[in-house]
Amino acid sequence: MTAGAHTPQIAVFDSGVGGLTVARAIHERLPWCDLRYLGDTARLPYGTKSAATVLRYAVQVADALVAGAGKIDVLVVACNTASACALPTLRQRHACPVLGVIEPGAERAIATTRSRHVGVIGTERTIASGAYQQAIGARAPDVHVHALATPLLAALAEEGWFDHPATDAALDAYLRPFLAQPATATIDTLVLGCTHYPVFKTALGRALGRFLDHEVALVDSADAIAEEVAGVIDDAGHAPSRPGRIALYATDVGERFDRVGRYFFPTTDVVIEAIDL
Ligand code: DGL
Repeated sequence: MTAGAHTPQIAVFDSGVGGLTVARAIHERLPWCDLRYLGDTARLPYGTKSAATVLRYAVQVADALVAGAGKIDVLVVACNTASACALPTLRQRHACPVLGVIEPGAERAIATTRSRHVGVIGTERTIASGAYQQAIGARAPDVHVHALATPLLAALAEEGWFDHPATDAALDAYLRPFLAQPATATIDTLVLGCTHYPVFKTALGRALGRFLDHEVALVDSADAIAEEVAGVIDDAGHAPSRPGRIALYATDVGERFDRVGRYFFPTTDVVIEAIDL
C-alpha cells in the first residue's frame, strides 16, 4: 500500500453490546481496517419496539456514527431488528455500501439446508417484520421458513446466562411446541437471527438434541457478514498497511459496556467513549 493511502473505515452499529460479536468477526477478517462501533445502550432493547421507533433510532444512530468520522467505506447494521426495519432508508441516506445481517444469514441458511426446512429465531420485531422469510423466499422459493420469536433470550444473554438452567428452561418452553409441528421438526438449519444468540450455541445444540434425532446446523450471521464486508473492502482495491484502530461508542457507557468492549477486543488499544445523540 502506498504512503498516505486511505485506511478503510468500517462503521458498525447495534442496539447494544450484542453487535460486538459482528464487530470482532469483521476485525479478525480485516485487522488493518479502522472500526467504529456504536451501541445504543441507552435505548435497547429494539426488539420489543414498534417498527417506526426502531427506524427512527437506527437513522439517528447511523447518522451520529458516520458524522463523527471522515470517509466511511462501509456501514454495517449489526442488529437484526434494525436491519429488518431500517435497511432501505439507511441505503438511501448514506452514500457508502450499507450491509445488514439478514441477507448474509439468509444466504448461508439456503446454502446449508438439505431438507429445505429452515428455522429462524429472533426478536419479536424481527420475526414480525417477515424480513428473513422474504430474504430466503426471494432467493430460494423452495425453502420453507419456520420463524419463531424468542424475546427472552436477549435478556438472558445480557445477564450472562449462556449456560444456565434458566436458559435451558426458556429454550425448552420455546422449542417444544415449535418442534412438535411435523413440518418444523424437519428443519436441519437454524438461523440465529439476533446478535445476542451466538452465545447460546452450546445450550441450543443441547436443546435441539432433546427434541430432534437429527443434526441441526446453527447459522450465525457474524461470520457471514464479515465475508461480505471483506468483499466490499477488497473490491475497492484496499490493502493492509497498519493495525486498525478500534473505537467503541455507546449512548450509555457504564461498567458493563467497558467490560464487554474490552472482553471482545482484549489485545487491541481500544477507545471507549459515550456518544450523545
Ligand atoms: N441487537 C438486537 C437484534 O439483533 C437484539 C437486542 C434488542 O432487542 O435490541 O435483533
